[in-house]
Amino acid sequence: MAAYSVQVFNAAGKFRVVSTKPMPGQQWIRALVNAGCRVEVCTSQKTILSVDDILSLIGSKCDGVIGQLTEDWGETLFSALKKAGGTAFSNMAVGYNNVDVEAANKYGIAVGNTPGVLTETTAELAAALTLSAARRVVEADDFMRAGKYDGWLPNLFVGNLLKGQTVGIIGAGRIGSAYARMMVEGFKMNVIYYDLYQSKFLENFVTAYGNFLKSQGETPVTWKRASSPEEVLKEADVVSLHPVLDKTTYHLINTERLALMKKEAVLVNASRGPVIDEEALVKHLKANPMFRVGLDVFEDEPYMKPGLGELPNAVVVPHIASASKWTREGMATLAALNVAGKLQGLPVWHNSNMVLPFLDENVPPPKACPSIVNAKALGLQVAPPPSKL
Ligand code: DGY
Repeated sequence: MAAYSVQVFNAAGKFRVVSTKPMPGQQWIRALVNAGCRVEVCTSQKTILSVDDILSLIGSKCDGVIGQLTEDWGETLFSALKKAGGTAFSNMAVGYNNVDVEAANKYGIAVGNTPGVLTETTAELAAALTLSAARRVVEADDFMRAGKYDGWLPNLFVGNLLKGQTVGIIGAGRIGSAYARMMVEGFKMNVIYYDLYQSKFLENFVTAYGNFLKSQGETPVTWKRASSPEEVLKEADVVSLHPVLDKTTYHLINTERLALMKKEAVLVNASRGPVIDEEALVKHLKANPMFRVGLDVFEDEPYMKPGLGELPNAVVVPHIASASKWTREGMATLAALNVAGKLQGLPVWHNSNMVLPFLDENVPPPKACPSIVNAKALGLQVAPPPSKL
């Protein structure tokens, strides 16, 4: 096993906490130091650490680890962490499909994640991908830089108008609903959504905004809850995917479902890559040059399926949906407070989506772990809401 260079903060701290990556900002380091931790940040240049790399970082004494969504946190790492005396792990991500929570439960290790700070940032990137794909921004940018622009032409980079069209959402949770609201408010799009749960919040918002538009003499926007993903795919001009990745959503978008979509539709994915069968998508993009896609995530991340990178009707970015400064610093702070809180024996926060009190640098954070996904399985105590204290 390779030995990695680490940067150490508060060398005399009582708990040894490892972060497998440097993370944005300093607040997360202060949070751990204030909780009495010695913080060791791996500074290896290797982008994705292997299980062996992380085993070597854990070593023989480690109380907690902050890890990344690119790492494989399963039986091997959780058993090693337990053996090293560890009780806390946090992903610096809201998604935790890289974590085997059952294995963590087996070794009594708390698993933290970072909801509540990604919603708007991720939705904004999905909106950016939508616009880029619909209006062919990247193709046009390439064209300019290649010195090919020699005059205005009626047919140059003609794309899709969004106003008055229908945006389809598959997975109308927090991020999906925030994205839908942006497309409704920004571009007066109508909404069709599919989710196992009714999104009253989204429906009420679209209804109220539609009434407002009507009061201004404009065409009101509308919403519809679809009874299947197929209904969304058939009716929408833009489809944005926001489900969690699990057995039921793996390859949710496949050859058959792509065939249901409009020939000039825009498909956006800022959820998880394997929600789309990427080989099928490449074939579909080749056969339908006016069908466009905006992708933040990939089936075999960090790789793209052969052919995808050469297609002009695909806008591709490297999993940056949460990459705003505020969000990434917030994610780091929440991950640190999950680990620090568990090591200090603090209870779990009552609502993991309402985490702003943890992010204000000017006041001490609440005495709780912001978000522990296996709190129930481990029988961890939940802190009552502040008003009830
Ligand atoms: C997450 O937190 O799950 C996101 O994918 C990171 O961008």
